[in-house]
Amino acid sequence: MKKLKGLLIISAVMGLIITGCGKKKNAETEAKWTIGMSQCNLGEPWRVQMNADIKRAADAHAELKVIFKDAQNDTLKQRAQTEEFISAGADLIIISPKEAAPLTPVVAQAYQKGIPVIVLDRRVLGDQYTCFIGADNKKIGRAAGRWIAQLLGNKGQVVELKGLMTSTPGQDRNSGFREGIEGTDIEVIFEADMKWLEPNARREMESALARFDDIDLVYAHNDPGAHGAYLAAQAAGREKDIKFVGIDALPQEGRIYVKQGVLEASFEYPTGGKEAVEIALEILNGKEVPKEITLSSRVFTKENIEQGGQLLSQQ
Ligand code: FRU
Repeated sequence: MKKLKGLLIISAVMGLIITGCGKKKNAETEAKWTIGMSQCNLGEPWRVQMNADIKRAADAHAELKVIFKDAQNDTLKQRAQTEEFISAGADLIIISPKEAAPLTPVVAQAYQKGIPVIVLDRRVLGDQYTCFIGADNKKIGRAAGRWIAQLLGNKGQVVELKGLMTSTPGQDRNSGFREGIEGTDIEVIFEADMKWLEPNARREMESALARFDDIDLVYAHNDPGAHGAYLAAQAAGREKDIKFVGIDALPQEGRIYVKQGVLEASFEYPTGGKEAVEIALEILNGKEVPKEITLSSRVFTKENIEQGGQLLSQQ
């Protein structure tokens, strides 16, 4: 009896392996189109989420096969990897570029060769691409500025930890924020480019703490940056005197910080992964698509988090 049970289990497992392999092979042979996805790095949870969103959406379409490449935060590597997609004859390229200017030529090269290119989240320069998808970073920065001004009663000393300033979200989250606090008595007493990275943000915040006894709030261009600043303040015993605001609001990151009271607010920056696959399918099926798709964003605070945040208004 025991032997028979063992045999049954073995044959069931073998069956699973065989059908599993068969399925994979089928999917590969059935795929009609190959999409090259160039991700600038996978060191941050937000980018891991973007790739997962793309994979989940593409897995629902047997006609699509996505090849992911991770440039490990190296612009030259990202350029080379995109060139590889071009010479391999990808049917379409999705790129989330690290920086705007240095990645503009390779995107234009693909586009001019007739390979459709979807630029996701960070922009390139000019208009030599098929479609840009992302949320409005200027609007998010402005909304963060207004929200912070209200929280601080239109006055106070603020530290701004900026995302990579050679990338467009860093530039827009900065200029939008400055517009949002215009006409108030809020003073940005310290600003630094932490290049989107938590350890850099922590280091910059240590300098800010050493220089200034009075800091009311830290506005960081992403949640890892805000969290890095929080850790620096905590190590100095000052985290209760300072408020922290970030951007991204991933369910497993920023929204948890808001629930824990580490962040006062986080502004959502959707990855656009699902939308990129939907648009890719339209392009590959010969449909016209808009040049630009703007995703909406929500703000998450302690008060609204259980209700799913609040949509940013139109302006
Ligand atoms: C991840 C990230 C996000 C940010 C986005 C901007 O690399 O820094 O935190 O919202 O890039 O492009």
